[in-house]
Amino acid sequence: MSQRSCLSIILAAGEGTRMKSAVPKVLHTIAGLPMVAHVVKAAEAAGSGELALVIGHGADEMRKAALKFAPKAEAFVQEKRLGTAHAVLAARAAISKGYDDILVMFGDTPLIDPEALAAARLKLAEGAAVVVVGFRTENPSGYGRLIEKAGRLVAIREEKDCSDEEKKITFCNGGLMAVAGRHALNLLDQVGSKNAKGEYYLTDIVEIAAAQGFDVVATEASFENALGINNRAELAQAEGIWQQRRRREAMLSGVTLIAPETVFFSHDTEIGADTIVEPNVWFGPGVKIATGAKIHAFSHIEGATIASNCDVGPFARLRPGADLRNKAKVGNFCEVKQAIVEEGAKVNHLTYIGDARIGAGANIGAGTITCNYDGYSKFFTDIGEGAFIGSNSSLVAPVSIGKGGYIASGSVITESVPDDALAFGRARQRTLPGKGKELRERFSQAAAARKKG
Ligand code: UD1
Ligand code: MG
Repeated sequence: MSQRSCLSIILAAGEGTRMKSAVPKVLHTIAGLPMVAHVVKAAEAAGSGELALVIGHGADEMRKAALKFAPKAEAFVQEKRLGTAHAVLAARAAISKGYDDILVMFGDTPLIDPEALAAARLKLAEGAAVVVVGFRTENPSGYGRLIEKAGRLVAIREEKDCSDEEKKITFCNGGLMAVAGRHALNLLDQVGSKNAKGEYYLTDIVEIAAAQGFDVVATEASFENALGINNRAELAQAEGIWQQRRRREAMLSGVTLIAPETVFFSHDTEIGADTIVEPNVWFGPGVKIATGAKIHAFSHIEGATIASNCDVGPFARLRPGADLRNKAKVGNFCEVKQAIVEEGAKVNHLTYIGDARIGAGANIGAGTITCNYDGYSKFFTDIGEGAFIGSNSSLVAPVSIGKGGYIASGSVITESVPDDALAFGRARQRTLPGKGKELRERFSQAAAARKKG
């Protein structure tokens, strides 16, 4: 298979008006990745080396976005939306380069299974000129029906052009098509627009190829392969299916999810075996978790690296650049951003650690804050190995606490503290015997006098 050259053409010139959005439809995300990027990933996974993106509405924005998720893709603009065959022909220059296989996919169909694409390519390798990836559904309304004669696919009829009899067919066009490169332009150029919508239908190449005696084949895949997104309700439906698949994959690879339906992964979450994830955890992009970590309930984690056997949450927020080394602990109501928490260090309660390093085995007391920002710039806090930061301390960066340094609770630390030093950064306590009682009497008399007057 891999010896055969392959071009994937992704149609993404949809209007997307039903999304009610300033963002082009195919840039709306599933698991944090634009839906069209999911299609790109599937094409790549099916061994497609080259990529053509057909864009229309929001072309500039699309080009910019595509640089991130498909830097090698060539973009073609379809100026007028005259139908799916017309859209494919916008990429004529790419098709003309000559490929063994051409895959056509829709940018708004993000749950495409690479295996369905690979199966279609296999049929091309076996000699088919056109392969249609079909699916069966109880409710075929809106889809093109696959018309078969004597067990052979002879045409695809769009809903609006179907006879009442044809409308009953439940085998539908999922929208994925594979075409032999050497026949592609010939077939596409024969497509006309005599149909109910007056559009150039890609699906017409089936009838054209069959009439010319080419081998035309339908394969079957699951409904998800055809799930096109037109509004935000369908977007949420696709997100749900994606998450379900990912959760299952995580569990089968050795991750415990106590309540899987409440855990949300990102497209790029990496999570190692024997990690236990409690209910209601959110993973944003860029999270890597090694093995044996415990992620307690209600944690929100993005851009973080979590080494083996760490303990996170409940209610922890790890932001980009949080780097927890082996056995580090970040407990409830703690936020960590752009900071290394070295081996066995503990940040257990109600704390903000930003732009910092916390040395191995250090203990950060409840309510500690690294004051990293003066309203203009960010500054670094360095905490040495084995240091102890007493509760409710403010560490005003830039500042460093040496190895084994000991900070008295309630301190505001503005100057660096050497190794093994003890630092107090607070007013000394005064205790006045009997004064509490005296004060109370005075206040109560004053209040009584006010009431009378
Ligand atoms: C299409 C298929 C139908 C199939 C269904 C599966 C055709 C003629 N029909 O119908 O058989 O069952 O998908 O979902 O192919 N596009 C462009 N430029 C155009 C027209 C469309 O880029 O000029 C893109 C759209 O953005 C979309 C895709 O092509 O991503 C499909 O177009 P759409 O109008 O949704 O076709 P359907 O009527 O759903
Ligand atoms: Mg559609």
